[in-house]
Amino acid sequence: MPELVNRRWTLANRPVGYPQESDFAIIETDVDDPQHGEILVRTLFLSLDPYMRGRMRDRRSYAVPVGIGDVVVGEGVGRVIASQSDDVAVGDIVACQIGWQEYAVVPAHTARVVDPAMAPISTALGVTGMPGLTAYHGLLAVGQPRPGETVLISAASGAVGAVVGQIAKMNGCRVIGTVGTDDKAAYCTDELGFDAAINYKTEDVFARLTELAPDGIDIYFDNVGGTVTDAAIENLALRGRVLVCGQISQYNLEEPEMAPRNFWNLITKQARIEGFLVFNFQNDHEVARTRLASWVRDGSLKYREDIVDGFEQAPRAFIGLMNGANFGKLLVKMSD
Ligand SMILES: NC(=O)c1ccc[n+]([C@@H]2O[C@H](COP(=O)([O-])OP(=O)(O)OC[C@H]3O[C@@H](n4cnc5c(N)ncnc54)[C@H](OP(=O)(O)O)[C@@H]3O)[C@@H](O)[C@H]2O)c1
Repeated sequence: MPELVNRRWTLANRPVGYPQESDFAIIETDVDDPQHGEILVRTLFLSLDPYMRGRMRDRRSYAVPVGIGDVVVGEGVGRVIASQSDDVAVGDIVACQIGWQEYAVVPAHTARVVDPAMAPISTALGVTGMPGLTAYHGLLAVGQPRPGETVLISAASGAVGAVVGQIAKMNGCRVIGTVGTDDKAAYCTDELGFDAAINYKTEDVFARLTELAPDGIDIYFDNVGGTVTDAAIENLALRGRVLVCGQISQYNLEEPEMAPRNFWNLITKQARIEGFLVFNFQNDHEVARTRLASWVRDGSLKYREDIVDGFEQAPRAFIGLMNGANFGKLLVKMSD
């Protein structure tokens, strides 16, 4: 194999508040040969996800932080260009923890071979990948929606939110989304079939929810936290369920906001709040993935990707994700 040079984005500083481009640094290294049981992958698409912000903090969480000078973590889809494994062949397309880099040597058993016939390979990072699985398990297993119920979703046009809303519609629910722009609101109602969408930046979310859901919200799928969540809790229906998936409005604050203060409503509504992690549903991932991919193929599950061209763009695009600049699942296209 010819000598290959690997470019990698490393964490230069721990971001304070919103990340800055100066918090990241590109370095070049040689590409290692895979050893027994390993594969060498060339990245085609890199996924940018909100959880990465948490990994940039030196704080105890469900996963270890990225060290200063280390490659930023991230899942990618790539082509296997060398293999020392009997299970994964050269030429296979795989999804695995690649990190923000052009090449990665990974243990073959940690890579999932992607079948391009199931759905376009980029979707292995979105609608048929981790965000799609989060939506599927979170809504169906934790939320247990029933026909006729009203489901509210925040960050509704995003990678997770858009899938939640469409699965809720398949289950006979009424769906309301909150989003940060009018374009995203129109996408939710006109293309994804949601019943209503609220622009939380320009509208009074509490007032709109009272109007749109006079009998209350049965399921709130929370991706953002903060004031949108306060308004949702105020508008819960009897035995409402709040599914805490993400809290992106808090990820870049050095001090979390002192809220919610309206838990009284949980008592009167006999409501439930439950956080969940997609990894807890691993045993059911294959069934879920097969269903998500079949919905993509038959057109019943729509998806939108926001594809940024070029490895150099990764930090800028990630900072945009933290500000709502993305419209759909954010990916970096690294090579053809
Ligand atoms: N629990 C789990 O296992 C799990 C797994 C995957 C993801 N998640 C969480 O799910 C959430 C959505 O992830 P995703 O991958 O689907 O991202 P995404 O929705 O595609 O992108 C993030 C969106 O969050 C919104 N946002 C950004 N800053 C905000 C703020 N201050 N207040 C309100 N909204 C803000 C923006 O949309 P607008 O323009 O509409 O504001 C932005 O486009 C994240 O919180 C993530 O951490 C959890």
